[in-house]
Parts: sequence; structure tokens; C-alpha cells
Amino acid sequence: MIDLDDAAAMRAADPSGMLGLVSGLADHCREGYQLGRAAEGLPSADDLTAVAFCGMGGSAVAGDVVRVLYAERLRLPVTVIRTPELPAWCGPHTLVVASSYSGNTAETLALFEEAVARGCRMIAVTSGGRLAQLAAELEVGTVRVPGTFMPRAAVGYLALGVLGSLESVGLVPSMAADLDETLGELRRILDVNGPAVPASNNPAKTLALRIGGRFPVVWGGEGLAATAAYRWKTQFNENAKVPAFWGALPELDHNEVVGWAEGAGRSFFLVALRHEGEHAEVAARFPLSTEIARSSGMEAEEVRASGASGLSRLLELVLHGDLVSTYHAIARGVDPTPIDAIARLKRALAEA
Ligand code: F6R
Repeated sequence: MIDLDDAAAMRAADPSGMLGLVSGLADHCREGYQLGRAAEGLPSADDLTAVAFCGMGGSAVAGDVVRVLYAERLRLPVTVIRTPELPAWCGPHTLVVASSYSGNTAETLALFEEAVARGCRMIAVTSGGRLAQLAAELEVGTVRVPGTFMPRAAVGYLALGVLGSLESVGLVPSMAADLDETLGELRRILDVNGPAVPASNNPAKTLALRIGGRFPVVWGGEGLAATAAYRWKTQFNENAKVPAFWGALPELDHNEVVGWAEGAGRSFFLVALRHEGEHAEVAARFPLSTEIARSSGMEAEEVRASGASGLSRLLELVLHGDLVSTYHAIARGVDPTPIDAIARLKRALAEA
């Protein structure tokens, strides 16, 4: 076990500095928003009927952020497409956002080319690669983000870059005030949970250690907390290299809870993501559902976002999960950065 209060041992266990990258979320959001606002050659938002956000893995999360934040405010459906096939409803009145951090993800490139062929209105979000090249050739407005991250660590750039560009085309109202509040909340979270705060006084380090060898199960209410729960799951997979699971309330009360029979939960640890803006139905269900999980032998802990805006609640929960999953890796001597299985798959598919 690596001591999470030993800065030198932590640096040695995290040679590519994932902890520093996830801790930089507030700055990434601020810079990403500016890049999105300043992007040139963006399409018109007149007469749009839908937004299709195309991306995979860490680059798709930005689409989840847009989808949940604007579900109640935007009069257009926002759909996140994580497959190489563009749905039949995408056409000239659809705004297609193609998001690939590397710019070389096969599924996203296939969707981009098909969307161009169908005359969709396009925005590309990338740090380079083939997507940047194609977008430049076809004069597609591009949010160009810096290229030195692992895609999942660039979530602030990608999400706020997209939000800034949607604001720029007049599709969504300004979120400058929400962003200011969010940056303050993210800094507050780091003051309490950041690498320099000793484990005895640091809820994120304590949670990572408490989970120990158990498999994380992360629950959130449908909407922003469910989006954050999915992000926690994927960050446990990629940073900590452990199987992890997620579910959304109220849906999980109609199926998953049955699986948590007595004894079934002993190898799992439940993290419940909560916030003040939860639907009353979800808030009522949470304690009852958590009780069922506990009765299966699973330990549980609640993580609560306290921000006022949806953006800050969502990104607080995301930052908390990024920190916990990275601490979980480092404590067990696992390098949080490499994702060998994903790289192997991409190589094998490119050769096939
Ligand atoms: C790696 C990661 C992956 C990638 C995914 C798509 O850190 O999070 O999930 O995001 O393989 O690649 P990109 O983002 O380059 O399109």
C-alpha cells in the first residue's frame, strides 16, 4: 500500500501525474469555455430540430454534460451517440458535434463523415488527429483543445468547449455566471479533498481507502447525478483498473435492488451521489434503496454536491469521483494513467 500522505511515494506511483491533471479541472473548464466561445466558422443555429453529440469514452462525457444540463431548458432533443452508425433522423436540420480528443477514434470519424455526407451542421471538438485534418479541409468550425492529456482527463476542456461553442451560435443562454460559481465550488472541493490534505482530514482519500478491495457501485438520481455516477464508474475502470458498476434512481428500484439479496453485496461498496436539486421522488427513494443495499452486506457512503447551479453540482460530483478513483489507484500501487486494454484493442482493430 502507498501512503496517501507521502507526497514522494505518491509521485512515484503516479509518474504521469494523473492526480495533478484531475486537480486542474477548474482551470481546464475556464480555458475550455474560452476556446469554445472563440471558435470560428461555427454553423448557424437557425431552424435546428435536434443536436446529435458523437463521441466515445472520455470524449462522449462532454455530450452527457450538455444533455443533462439542457434537458429542461433547451427545446431541442440532445442525443449522445456512442456507435459508428448515425441515426436516420440526422439531416440538414441537425447539429452534429463530433468530439474526439485524439481525433483518431474510428467510431467518431465514421459518424463525422456520414454527417457531412448528409448535410448536417457540424462542430468538431478535438486536440488534433484525423478529425482536425478533415474539419480543416471541409471548413468545419472546430473547438481545438490542448493535446497533452489523456482524453478522460480533458473533460473540462471538452465539456466547456462544447458549451462555449453552443453559446456562441446562440443555441443556449450564457452560462458565465454558473461557470464562475462552479470554479469556486471546484476550488473549495480541492481545498478539502486535494492531494496536500492529509487522509485523516480528507473525505476523498478516506473513501478511496475505505472502498479498499471491494468493487465500487455508484448510484445517482436520473439526470446530472446519474451522469456523474457513470463517470465515477468509468474512472474507476480506467484510473484504478477495477470492475465498477453504476445505476440510476428511480429506474434501479425497479430491477437492480432485487439483485441485492442478503449476502450478495459483501464484495461491493456503494457510493450514493446526492444533491439539493434531486427530484422529490428520487430523494424519497434514496434512503430506502440504500437500506436494501446495506442489507445485502454492502457498505455505503454518500457524496453530496452543494453548489447552486446544475453545472456546479455535476462538476463537483465529477471532480470528487476523479479524485477518489485516482487515490484508489495510487494507494494500491496502480499507475492511474495507462489504459493498455483500450490501446491494444484500438491497435488490433486498426490492423484488422
Ligand atoms: C482515455 C479514455 C478513452 C477515450 C476513448 C475515445 O483516457 O478516456 O475512453 O476517450 O477511447 O478516444 P478519444 O477520446 O481520443 O476519441
